[in-house]
Amino acid sequence: MLVSAKDMLQKAKAGKYAVGQFNINNLEWTKAVLLTAQELNSPVILGVSEGAGKYMCGYKTIVGMVNGMIDELGITVPVALHLDHGSYEGAKKCIEAGFSSVMFDGSHYPIEENIAKTKELVATCNELGLSLEAEVGSIGGEEDGVIGAGECADPKECKMIADLGITMLAAGIGNIHGKYPENWAGLSFDTLDAIQQLTGDMPLVLHGGTGIPADMIQKAISLGVSKINVNTECQLAFAAATREYVEAGKDLVGKGFDPRKLLAPGFEAIKATVKEKMELFGSVNKA
Ligand code: 13P
Repeated sequence: MLVSAKDMLQKAKAGKYAVGQFNINNLEWTKAVLLTAQELNSPVILGVSEGAGKYMCGYKTIVGMVNGMIDELGITVPVALHLDHGSYEGAKKCIEAGFSSVMFDGSHYPIEENIAKTKELVATCNELGLSLEAEVGSIGGEEDGVIGAGECADPKECKMIADLGITMLAAGIGNIHGKYPENWAGLSFDTLDAIQQLTGDMPLVLHGGTGIPADMIQKAISLGVSKINVNTECQLAFAAATREYVEAGKDLVGKGFDPRKLLAPGFEAIKATVKEKMELFGSVNKA
């Protein structure tokens, strides 16, 4: 059964570790993330962007697939199915379809509008027992065609949004989606520290987990980050393993063209990436 991310994130915040959100793109992805979480006895959050939602034939298809897998694969660790960077309308659709968690990303609105819309969703999510993530200060890089500049959030605005009764807060601290450029200045720990000072127990979310060095991840966790989102790194691992299989001509040998064989190295590569992240984030055996 899908669960809200509230309990797992409050435990993570108190225990000074982070739960990974791994974005899913298809059946292989979902299966790889769920099996790894079960093997490592780790809680997990499956992230779905609106673009990935369309690609996978809509939110209802995803809810059916994930619930089916939890049942058929015997997954007993806590799993939250979460909308990533949702619009207000997208959040409503996911709630109707049976997601257990949603993110409303109002970071591009003026703060008053972000507050008003977040507040409405707090009421809905509380009533249904779902977790809600809100965002202040846009995350840099490109995701689903939306390009953010990698802002540092205003800690006072973070406090205003945190006080609305959300479950977890994503705050920009110089992080970027996708690969980090050579000249990236790194995470702003002063900003993170100031945000945590004002928001207290609120679990903080670090987007753009791909390519952040291990020491920065650990420092971010020590300053209150309890959810870390990873997407691109699994995509890169999947693509590299698939490329290697094809370049070695393995698809031309026997039944190597069978998708169950062709996609197997990519599947294993996602599993290895998820394992590495869960170990780094400290969520192993925290289910
Ligand atoms: P990356 O693609 O950089 O890992 O970021 C993922 C993310 O933050 C999803 O919201």
